[in-house]
Amino acid sequence: MASHDASKIKPTDLSEAQAKAELKRLAGEIAAHDKRYYQQDAPTVTDAAYDALRQRNAAIEAHFPALIRADSPSRRVGATPAGKFKKVRHAVPMLSLDNAFAEQDVVDFIARIRRFLKLDEKEKISFSAEPKIDGLSMSLRYEGGELVTAATRGDGAEGEDVTANIRTIKDVPHKLKGRNVPPVCEVRGEVYMTKSAFLALNERQKASGGQIFANPRNSAAGSLRQKDPTITASRPLGFFAYSWGEMSEMPADTQSGMIKWFESSGFKTNPLTKLCRSTEELIAFHRKIEEARAELDYDIDGVVYKVDRIDWQERLGFVSRTPRWAIAHKFPAERATTVVRGVLITVGRTGALTPTAQLDPVGVGGVIVQNVTLHNEDYIKGIGGDSEPLREGRDIRIGDTVIIQRAGDVIPQVVDVVIDKRPRDAKPYHFPTKCPCYLHTDIVREETATGEEGARARCTGEFACPFQKIEHLKLFCSRRAFDIEGLGEKQIELFFEKGWIKEPADIFTLPERNKKIKLEQEEGYGETSVRNLFEAIEQRRKISLDRFIYALGIRHVGETTALALARGYGSWKAFHDAGLKVGKGDEETIAEMDAIDQIGDTVIQAIAAYFGESHNRGIVERLTKEVKILDTEKPKKDTAIAGKTVVFTGALEKMTRDEAKAQAERMGAKAAGSVSKKTDYVVAGPGAGSKLADAKKLGVKVLTEDEWLKLVGG
Ligand code: IVH
Repeated sequence: MASHDASKIKPTDLSEAQAKAELKRLAGEIAAHDKRYYQQDAPTVTDAAYDALRQRNAAIEAHFPALIRADSPSRRVGATPAGKFKKVRHAVPMLSLDNAFAEQDVVDFIARIRRFLKLDEKEKISFSAEPKIDGLSMSLRYEGGELVTAATRGDGAEGEDVTANIRTIKDVPHKLKGRNVPPVCEVRGEVYMTKSAFLALNERQKASGGQIFANPRNSAAGSLRQKDPTITASRPLGFFAYSWGEMSEMPADTQSGMIKWFESSGFKTNPLTKLCRSTEELIAFHRKIEEARAELDYDIDGVVYKVDRIDWQERLGFVSRTPRWAIAHKFPAERATTVVRGVLITVGRTGALTPTAQLDPVGVGGVIVQNVTLHNEDYIKGIGGDSEPLREGRDIRIGDTVIIQRAGDVIPQVVDVVIDKRPRDAKPYHFPTKCPCYLHTDIVREETATGEEGARARCTGEFACPFQKIEHLKLFCSRRAFDIEGLGEKQIELFFEKGWIKEPADIFTLPERNKKIKLEQEEGYGETSVRNLFEAIEQRRKISLDRFIYALGIRHVGETTALALARGYGSWKAFHDAGLKVGKGDEETIAEMDAIDQIGDTVIQAIAAYFGESHNRGIVERLTKEVKILDTEKPKKDTAIAGKTVVFTGALEKMTRDEAKAQAERMGAKAAGSVSKKTDYVVAGPGAGSKLADAKKLGVKVLTEDEWLKLVGG
């Protein structure tokens, strides 16, 4: 029998040959998932599906112990580190947790502990019950109370050195508080991103054409894997401490005591953590946290129970890679069944097409889901291979009853189709070949970097496609671009439909053309609102260079990149000239652009594509006649603070923190968020706390606000 069929046979019913083939298949599959999860921050299956693979592997191994492979997933935790960062060997390995799904698993877990410790019936075991945060585990090493290394888990034995990035997280103290700090302390815990921050980050990424993350965990991982710590600093990450590695002395003899010590040392610990004294209390805790799950602003995928007494933890020890004294009690994946009523195709600013299933509204884990992304054509056809959460071989049709799951707690996805309930007349869905806009431009499948057909479909209408135009106008008017009050998404759609605003320059000629348009007669408008709108438009005729560049909507040019370009070129004329030359493939200008801090190949190619297109050049030409673009001062090289790194802390009285930073940067200095040996000045105002202490400790020069102003000469 082929191994393909063996995958459906119960572990206990497999023949030895089948078991061998199954273990081989599972090892390969799990390793591939691990690689995508740990190294590429891009898992392609739900945690539940992944857990199911590991469980099957464990069940087969339990039945055929002689067949356990050297490369078995049960012998590994995660994948080997990705290589961009320096490697760090963990003084104490970072292990994983065994999973419990059913209540019986919890009962068995406790019975095992009792047996192992030979406790009699009357002896109570206390457990520290903690939410299981779905983030990335991190090991923070403190020597002499100072943070020296931060390392990811990696394969459990060796992780990646992400110290510079971790230092930008406000929940991670650079120095431990308290008097009797042990000389060596490794504090472990979870780095995570809140759900709200994740959604906001994806919005920004979408606007700049950057990477979109599937869930908060991946965005936290992606944010930590940055070579440039300033990018990590711009991403709101949090940290909860819950465990430890090497400790030269133990400040407590229980898990709960350690948690208190983490708090007194300056860490955040999870406020829902609770000491439980019986199986019933544990189960009640699991239920309570599951109920609270939807309301929490961070993802959790279960709870963790840990024997509270550390002497018992030590006696219990480990089985292969998991402790006997702890278990993760997972939540069942949240699922619901509903019917697909239609497929809506939307066109993004860059022309990418996204199909969305329109569903009968259904509650999944505390939220109502009405539409769910279908990703792309292959996904709908059920040929996304094992790379998608949808069960392989299932196609989705209008009228189908589907199973929805909220993966990673945030994004709902279709995981299966109930074939028995498929209406007889349901036909396979045909992905459109023409853009849904009135131009009906052709749709093509994008090519991948290797020249193969990619999964993403794109409208070829480019600048003629009205959807792309509308999306660009939305970006243009948005808060971080031209920030035009009164021109929100709805108004833009209306003005575009009416033909009043077709491209950015039209916004500025609207007041003049209103003699004919008579906006004040439109429903929802009056004299005052029209006057306010036109005033808002007038106010934006002057704009900073960085905002202007961002507002152009060039792919891969988000706010940070736009600012880097503005600083690099200083004036619109300089940037525009360079853009036009790059658009013509001028090697010298490309090399110049490449030399600008933070600018690389992808951005240069996007700028070249943008200015290489005559339609865009026209848009820019008409727009620049309407607005005045203010120069960005290039960082100066001949000031007292050029090339220095400065940190502002405490309250400033003569200017805001942002103004102070901007001024420092104009004068060629770098404004950093945390103090290190590389800091040249710390400007401390009233209320300065740990950063001032860090500066004193490291012997960094501390200035008052007045001393700083004197230094910068103003
Ligand atoms: S304790 C030896 N406590 O779950 C035990 N882990 O599957 C070390 N996690 O790698 C882990 N919340 O990333 C522990 N309160 C918690 C946790 C937690 C989340 C993660 C952690 C770990 C994974 C184990």
